[in-house]
Amino acid sequence: MQNRNKQPFMIGVAGGTSSGKTTVCNMIIQQLHDHRVVLVNQDSFYRGLTQEELEHVSEYNFDHPDAFDNEQLLDCLWKLKNCQPVQIPVYDFKLHQRSTDTFRQVNAADVIVLEGILVFHDNQVRNLMNMRIFVDTDADIRLARRIRRDTQLRGRDVNSVIEQYAKFVKPAFDDFILPSKKYADVIIPRGGDNCVAIDLIVQHLRTKLGQHDLTKIYSNVHVIQSTFQI
Ligand code: C5P
Repeated sequence: MQNRNKQPFMIGVAGGTSSGKTTVCNMIIQQLHDHRVVLVNQDSFYRGLTQEELEHVSEYNFDHPDAFDNEQLLDCLWKLKNCQPVQIPVYDFKLHQRSTDTFRQVNAADVIVLEGILVFHDNQVRNLMNMRIFVDTDADIRLARRIRRDTQLRGRDVNSVIEQYAKFVKPAFDDFILPSKKYADVIIPRGGDNCVAIDLIVQHLRTKLGQHDLTKIYSNVHVIQSTFQI
């Protein structure tokens, strides 16, 4: 059986599209440079589209929970939580497909950070987390960033981004993402601009990771004392 004390600390980071989730994660990871930390993106677990879905891609809802392979995400998280290495799919936002021959190898770590729009939606995924953070950024700022990112990096034109936003992104935010905010332990207003919130989170994490080590030390002390008593 796995020693619970050795399980990595898992942090979930949710929030709407372009809220700054990845920036927040990178800032946390940078400040925890003396620990082994891995980042897992829920986006990597998007299902690849069928030929028929590709032909009607503007009708496809990428913001619905069913767009992700949740079983596979859960399996990867279980393995990581039990210190096993995993292969994470590589997703292409231009082709709406996963790579068939490339994976990202992720090894055991002290801290696992899982980020994505819907990481608080599924209760099994949610229950694996030791800390849940919601990145709360103004919708106007998020839309402006989304237009810039999707046109520059994801091969979209402005009209298609705005149409997709109105048809799927905003309704799914209201129906699935915003209601999941209630599961957060910490809500960060303004995302990556909020250095104070990130410093506080990192301080708390350092305390938790220290306690994690102390638990191991105390359990060793207990073993020595028991041996001595015998
Ligand atoms: O990085 P971010 O959290 O914004 O990624 C999630 C967004 O990616 C979703 O809002 C979804 O609309 C979008 N997406 C997309 N095309 C895909 C897959 C996801 O526009 N093929």
